[in-house]
Amino acid sequence: MDSRQRELASALVEHIEIGVIVLDSELRIQYWNDFVSQCSGKMLEQARQQPLTLTFPEADTPCLSKMLALARDHGEHVYTEWHEPPYLIRLPFDRSGEPAPLRLQSTLLFPFKSSADQPLLGLLLYDSSELARDNKQLDAALHTLSSKQVEQELLIAKLEKANAQLMQSEKLAAIGQLAAGVAHEINNPIGYVFSNLQTLAGYVHDLLRIIDAVDGAASLDELRQLKRSLEYDYIRNDVEALIGESEDGIERVKKIIAALKDFSHFEEDEFRLADLHRGLDTTLNVVNNELKYKAEVIKEYGQLPAVECMPSQINQVMMNLLVNAAHAIEQFGRITLRSGHENDWVWLEVEDTGQGIAPHLLNRIYEPFFTTKPVGKGTGLGLSLSYNIVRKHSGRIEVFSTPGQGTRFRVWLPTRQPAQQTQEDAGHNE
Ligand SMILES: Nc1ncnc2c1ncn2[C@@H]1O[C@H](COP(=O)(O)OP(=O)(O)OP(=O)(O)O)[C@@H](O)[C@H]1O
Ligand SMILES: [Mg+2]
Repeated sequence: MDSRQRELASALVEHIEIGVIVLDSELRIQYWNDFVSQCSGKMLEQARQQPLTLTFPEADTPCLSKMLALARDHGEHVYTEWHEPPYLIRLPFDRSGEPAPLRLQSTLLFPFKSSADQPLLGLLLYDSSELARDNKQLDAALHTLSSKQVEQELLIAKLEKANAQLMQSEKLAAIGQLAAGVAHEINNPIGYVFSNLQTLAGYVHDLLRIIDAVDGAASLDELRQLKRSLEYDYIRNDVEALIGESEDGIERVKKIIAALKDFSHFEEDEFRLADLHRGLDTTLNVVNNELKYKAEVIKEYGQLPAVECMPSQINQVMMNLLVNAAHAIEQFGRITLRSGHENDWVWLEVEDTGQGIAPHLLNRIYEPFFTTKPVGKGTGLGLSLSYNIVRKHSGRIEVFSTPGQGTRFRVWLPTRQPAQQTQEDAGHNE
């Protein structure tokens, strides 16, 4: 190295913001740069040839011994970070001699040889305070992030549980709604069949009197007299009317019971081929008492193949859509039920002439508990449950709505379930 190069090298070492200390193999100080003088407040002249640990007693640590063993005895470059210990020697001042906050240090100890062939050790001290600070922030951020993640996972687990409970309680709610509807529907025919029976009992009593009189009657005239007084002709007509009416009533009850039977497969959770129109009619029967005061129901069914589905669940979806449609109508309107078939897909549609849905609410209607209905009227679960059911069927729901004019919900279902998904999803969502 010529003198020019040496000059450059030494200028660099004197100006660099890194502590540079040269030690002999016994850790005696040979040299340190300006940075060390200024930041330690000690003078090189007094420290030269002194053991490092005498000038800087704080450096006398197990860490230094370990570093020394590796660097001197094994010829390695040993790098330590500020974590443990935070500094090797204390540098309490900044470069202008003012007290400085504690500097965290990273260090490098490495063996080298000078031209005089004497084995030496270089000790470099880097101020890593800033790095440490960044690192700390990073650590803290990472920590927060991971605890957030744990929180989120817990939340997701909770949500899944809530969702399962929701499905369960919604089922119960639907059964309750169903029961109320059925009670209402059955009440009326049962009422008049019962009163007809009472009237008929009176008539039978009178008829028996006439027949009994046949044996004891002195003359035909007496019998005719009795017949007239008991208004036989009126009874005759009325009996037929009453029986006809009662048969109608019982017929109606039978129909409702049949519908109920279809609905009572609530727990059945198996995909099977089903006639969706039949399900729709059943559902219509069940919700009839909610619809009939609000709308004229028009059926525009297309041709449908048998569809692989869980029929009672699809019934439930359609029931939710129908009840929503009825609720959306203020006075009296029209609800149109349509169905259709395209390639491997079928669709069912419920259109109403109700108040419609504001555009900014359209993407919220499937949220659990989202409802615009007054407290006690809506739970906001109908569409969320329907959405889940349709998703479980690998289908989708579309909605088109014009505020003030009406809303159309269309449920798309594949005619056959994709092979694996059927099982997997059925397992997940229940
Ligand atoms: N056909 C429709 N017309 C207008 N708004 C609708 C219609 N269907 C749903 N909505 C809106 O979407 C909201 C959510 O419907 P969803 O069926 O999930 O709950 P809900 O009917 O309010 O209560 P629940 O069904 O649990 O009794 C309703 O409150 C309503 O604002
Ligand atoms: Mg609803």
